[in-house]
Amino acid sequence: MPRTTVHVCSQCGFQSAQWHGQCPGCEAWNTLVEERLKPARTEGRARGPGRRAPGAGGAAGGAPRSRPRPLGEVGAAPMMRMSTGIGELDRVLGGGLVPGSLVLLGGSPGIGKSTLTNMVLGHLQQSGRRTLYVSGEESAEQVRLRAERLVLSPADPSRTALEVPVLAENDLESILQTLASEAPEACVIDSVQTLRSAELSGAPGSVGQVREVAAQIMELAKARGIAVILVGHVTKDGALAGPRVLEHLVDCVLQFEGERERPYRELRALKNRFGSTNEAGLFEMRQGGLVEVLDASARFVAEATRAAGSVVLAAMEGSRPLLVEVQALVAPSELEQPRRVVSGLDRNRLALVLAILGRHGGVRTGGADVFVNVVGGVRVEEPGCDLAVALAVASASRGLALKGTPRACFGELGLTGELRWVGHPERRLQEAAKHGLEAVIAPPDSGGRACEVATLRQALAAALPRGPAEAGVRAASASERAGSPVALVSERRAATPRALGGAPEAASHARRRLAAAGAQEEDPEAL
Ligand code: TYD
Ligand code: MG
Repeated sequence: MPRTTVHVCSQCGFQSAQWHGQCPGCEAWNTLVEERLKPARTEGRARGPGRRAPGAGGAAGGAPRSRPRPLGEVGAAPMMRMSTGIGELDRVLGGGLVPGSLVLLGGSPGIGKSTLTNMVLGHLQQSGRRTLYVSGEESAEQVRLRAERLVLSPADPSRTALEVPVLAENDLESILQTLASEAPEACVIDSVQTLRSAELSGAPGSVGQVREVAAQIMELAKARGIAVILVGHVTKDGALAGPRVLEHLVDCVLQFEGERERPYRELRALKNRFGSTNEAGLFEMRQGGLVEVLDASARFVAEATRAAGSVVLAAMEGSRPLLVEVQALVAPSELEQPRRVVSGLDRNRLALVLAILGRHGGVRTGGADVFVNVVGGVRVEEPGCDLAVALAVASASRGLALKGTPRACFGELGLTGELRWVGHPERRLQEAAKHGLEAVIAPPDSGGRACEVATLRQALAAALPRGPAEAGVRAASASERAGSPVALVSERRAATPRALGGAPEAASHARRRLAAAGAQEEDPEAL
């Protein structure tokens, strides 16, 4: 029997008939991936009028196979999009599913990928489109049981997902046949890791198999204009399982994330050929499936504790402002290397903010465990969150809640302790005002009625009541606080003004800045 597959090293391209643990070419480990042998291209197989006459000689002699054209001459048909019936998903996709496109939906098990894709096909089928749900993971009965629970439209109980045709199958070749004969407009493959091509010897889910499955489905989808959603699992470290290669292949990579124990789920685009990658959609897992969360800010603001360590952040989720609560806990550590635990934020960002807080805010956390959490299982991935993290940690370490009326904040921290401008301040301020948050602490030039501050130190002064020693209420003796890993800003300031900047000019500069923030500190209402 002729050989149909070959093992190719994904690093150096070495080809071998057999699988090796170590590539004989470049000696890298575990890089050989099984691939289907492509039929050899024969000379002169080029399409179109530019075809090279056989025997016309080398590349220099014959006419080129294809000619470049100015972009203006390229005819571009307006892109048709199918609404998925789920507003948040449409927005993340950039306005709906594009026919012939491949969308990879990743997420950890149990997060709701099957639920979401079931609902999408339910909506599309209800709106008169042909759909197909391919399940390699669950039996048709299991898919039906889920579909029975789904509520597509609370207003109209007659709309169900039960009309969606389902195919429980693992074999790629028979799935391709069904796809070709049924010619659905939208198709879900749940999941790409469970399908297997008989032409390759690897197990389902191996890199070679996943790549082959995706490539073959893509070829058919592009030829027939089928919009395909490939469901993929995510490995422990968050990468879409096995194949990062898939991310290059597909048009759009969506990530579905959240904590399984909490109801909130967030959908983000990591890559999108047909829209922005900044958008995020928020869902809640309920009894009848996933429900879009349209008033997320209102919920998070209402749930905010306003205790010490709690700060409301006016964040941007793509083009949309979102108010979220950032909570921090600072506790003396018994470990040599204190813990830095963060959820919903970048861990390195926390390290940076803690360093800036220590150096420029006088809040040292070197001997303390620091925990920071964005409440609700939401992930904030923008520099505008720095100030909220800094204020939450400072508030937690001092044990003092933010002073004054309920307020929000945003802004990026620079390494020299300055507060930097971030995008869309007006939308953030509007959102805060809409939910009753006044005196938003913001970087300079944010406009509106923001409480603008230029430095972290000013922000701390504006946000937090003065410490007991500072306010003269109780002179906390150094011995009383000995052993505490947490230093009060006031203590630091009283003890060594020079330590702020090292040089006398820096210290006086810092004092001037503090004086500038004085007006806010003296605010009687705020105390
Ligand atoms: P599922 O879509 O199967 O997750 P995935 O395909 O990503 O592995 O959904 C997982 C969870 O969602 C499951 O634990 C039950 C819950 N769920 C609900 O709470 N309500 C519902 O209506 C449905 C369908 C599921
Ligand atoms: Mg599933």
